[in-house]
Amino acid sequence: MFEPIVAAIFRREARRRMRLGSSAGIAPVPAEPVFLYLHVPFCEVLCPYCSFHRVRFEEGKVRRYFAALRQELRHYHARGFRFNGLYVGGGTPTVVPGELVETLGLVRELNPGLSDISVETNPKDLRDEVLDALVGAGVGRLSVGVQTFDDGLLAEMQRLEKYGDRAEILGRLAAAAGRFRTLNVDMMWNLPHQTEAMLEADVAAVIASPANQASFYPLMQAPASARKMARTMGVAPRRRLRDFYERILAHLRPEFTATSAWCFTRGAPGIDEYLVDNGEYVGLGSGAFGYVGGTVYATTFSLNSYVDRVEQGLSGVTGERPIGAREQMQYELLVRLFGLRLGRDRVRARYGRRFERGLWPELLAFRALGAIREDADGWSLTDRGMYLWVQMMSAFFESVNAFREQMRHQIRAELEDEAVGEALVPLAEIRHGPGRFKRAR
Ligand SMILES: C[S@@+](CC[C@H](N)C(=O)[O-])C[C@H]1O[C@@H](n2cnc3c(N)ncnc32)[C@H](O)[C@@H]1O
Ligand code: SF4
Repeated sequence: MFEPIVAAIFRREARRRMRLGSSAGIAPVPAEPVFLYLHVPFCEVLCPYCSFHRVRFEEGKVRRYFAALRQELRHYHARGFRFNGLYVGGGTPTVVPGELVETLGLVRELNPGLSDISVETNPKDLRDEVLDALVGAGVGRLSVGVQTFDDGLLAEMQRLEKYGDRAEILGRLAAAAGRFRTLNVDMMWNLPHQTEAMLEADVAAVIASPANQASFYPLMQAPASARKMARTMGVAPRRRLRDFYERILAHLRPEFTATSAWCFTRGAPGIDEYLVDNGEYVGLGSGAFGYVGGTVYATTFSLNSYVDRVEQGLSGVTGERPIGAREQMQYELLVRLFGLRLGRDRVRARYGRRFERGLWPELLAFRALGAIREDADGWSLTDRGMYLWVQMMSAFFESVNAFREQMRHQIRAELEDEAVGEALVPLAEIRHGPGRFKRAR
């Protein structure tokens, strides 16, 4: 009963916090290597429900973009940035596999200490030659966007024709079996016409598939994508959220074990989504985010401007927001507990006693709600808490989605082949600054 209230407060707060000002460029170089996120915003089909920054695939544009990405990587390296792990997301990073492989090679060459490499893709790209190239490039986690195995829902999502039906997707996943340390499938739930039976069939198909990790995302929306979806796929009722989530937990366990509130793994622990494991990360490419030295950064959403800036020796960063000490601790609480556990040693090392003194109202409220449990070593999420965290993380990502829509609205002429001119949300105040690299300390 209290969860919707907590989630609503959180939703309002998350929206307020997605206001970025102009940026003078990415932060001073961190003392230790940090995580790297690369954004590849190209897709062959623009799915109606998706608010990620993506544009229609055009080979020339893709090649130009990847060349700029590699140039930007060299700029960061020359400034002293070193990376310890890599996540390539999109869009669809595998749209031109050769470009991706060349870029992965460069990241590894510049960062010999790099450990995990994670790449997103879609079922159509699970072809032998692409899989071999990804394995050869050191990819340890391949994340495949399946969404659902229900052919009717796939058709509504405009994915059936391009990415294949249930049988084809299962066949393609079989081709990828055993090649990567972690083979993840991205699933979506609370789709407008999804029934309980369809959801349970999806969970059964995941268990029968060779995937050893599954991410179950609740449908997350932003104003423009919600309107587009209402016209094409229908409207998803939020009231089913708890029932659907409980069904996922009930049917996925014990075969899979939760590693975050919506990510589940079977067998030995694999490579997780980067958000939980990595405190700080640098985001490169157009429409990427970073979080370094207590500041959130966003890069330009204009692909043309991104390429121009890199060619002029600038970084892609155009927006930033410094995060206050209390908010940093709240972010730590949210993201770590999303990964199910927050160790006392970790927060003591980072914040001393300030963490428990500063966040006692939050910790008390979550304990009173039965969402978290405290022991000598720290805090962990209960099943009840997992559901609350799903709602809070959805609210967090929906605010990010709304921000993306605003940014895309500002460059609608460049994206003329897409229906993005419908974002009605008030524009956050973003002034595009020079985005030079700040001097390394
Ligand atoms: C950005 S996509 C990249 C992967 C690839 N392009 C694909 O779709 O197969 C990563 C995942 O985000 C999830 N996603 C996209 N739009 C979503 C939405 N509106 N709500 C929840 N999850 C979403 C999907 O599960 C998708 O596979
Ligand atoms: S869901 Fe994946 S394929 Fe569809 S538009 Fe979004 S990023 Fe592209």
